[in-house]
Amino acid sequence: MNRFSDYKKNLNYSTCNEDSLTEKKALDVTKSDIILCLTGSGGPALNLLIENPKKIIAIDFNSIQNWLLELKIAAIKNLEYDEFCKFLGFKECKNRLELYDKITDDLSDYSFKYWEKHKRDIKKGILYQGQLEKVYKFSSNILKFNMGEKLDKMFSFNNLEDQIKFYETEWKTDPNWKEYLKHSYSIYFSNKDIEPAYYDLGEDYDFENFCSKLIDKGFKTRLVRENHLLSLGIDGSYDRVSILPLWLQRNNYHILKENIHKINIITENVISYLKNSPMNSIDKFAVSNLTDYLNEEDYKNFYRYIINCSRPNGKICIRSIVQRPILSDFTKNIIRNEELEKELENNDLALEYKIIVGKIIK
Ligand SMILES: C[S@@+](CC[C@H](N)C(=O)[O-])C[C@H]1O[C@@H](n2cnc3c(N)ncnc32)[C@H](O)[C@@H]1O
Repeated sequence: MNRFSDYKKNLNYSTCNEDSLTEKKALDVTKSDIILCLTGSGGPALNLLIENPKKIIAIDFNSIQNWLLELKIAAIKNLEYDEFCKFLGFKECKNRLELYDKITDDLSDYSFKYWEKHKRDIKKGILYQGQLEKVYKFSSNILKFNMGEKLDKMFSFNNLEDQIKFYETEWKTDPNWKEYLKHSYSIYFSNKDIEPAYYDLGEDYDFENFCSKLIDKGFKTRLVRENHLLSLGIDGSYDRVSILPLWLQRNNYHILKENIHKINIITENVISYLKNSPMNSIDKFAVSNLTDYLNEEDYKNFYRYIINCSRPNGKICIRSIVQRPILSDFTKNIIRNEELEKELENNDLALEYKIIVGKIIK
């Protein structure tokens, strides 16, 4: 089966499954930077915008993801923070379509046509309507059924030691948790299209162990309610989260409004875009998951083109589910910072990613 068969026909991501603090530290954005990132949910571009760069190129070959970013941009331009949260579905709202009517003038014709046909998603709150977010919801409902009040308890801790103790003594030993883990494979793999990288993990991949390790790391390293990505996975929403992703934080909203014109959205395969980009034209690259999806030829071209269009001393941050080494032809041009990679990997709220951070030498 082609891993992208339905992928480009769906809204796959609507929140943001990256911990933006990782890209922030890895790329060290300055005011003069032109940054290229994948659009996905739009979250990566909005998070980077808070760093006040010169320009952001948000690129995706799935136009629906780009129309989502257009929708978020139109909402930021036209709505105040509280309305924005209501419009997205982060907060309750009875008149979401009225808020939608306030922003449509800022949508392109294609985007407008798409959202007119998908008003039901807008009405429900677009924040949680991606395929991945629906899987999170489905999975968290099963978890709530299995773990009941123990899940509520997980969100109640103020102290990490107490949380770890509870996890070790009451959560990990619960037969319902073991039961959930046993079925985690079918819960997540029922829709591999949400994450094409899963195709590479192989049929006999021990997903139960993968999931168990992630949760172990998640529960033992940070308070659950301070990890918005873990919360999304186990609670299906940000409702009980005390630290929101950067782009959703009230304090950052005025920065988004001031900088929103700096995002340039491109619908194209990133490889052809990079191939045709002028030499020395981009400073920083945030390419979440891209390397998971590339065939051998494109993987080689990806580095070749990035090195060509990067300015001297540009920076790259690559997230991936499947670890793929930088090809030896390019290791002299991309100088990795392995110490920083390790630190970022250990602290990344998304828990499952391998991180590569490199400086690009011409
Ligand atoms: C995993 S998503 C990144 C989502 C991001 N982590 C988020 O939270 O929003 C990767 C995005 O890159 C897009 N993509 C994958 N391969 C691409 C390619 N070769 N060219 C352009 N876009 C691509 C996908 O459509 C997807 O939206």
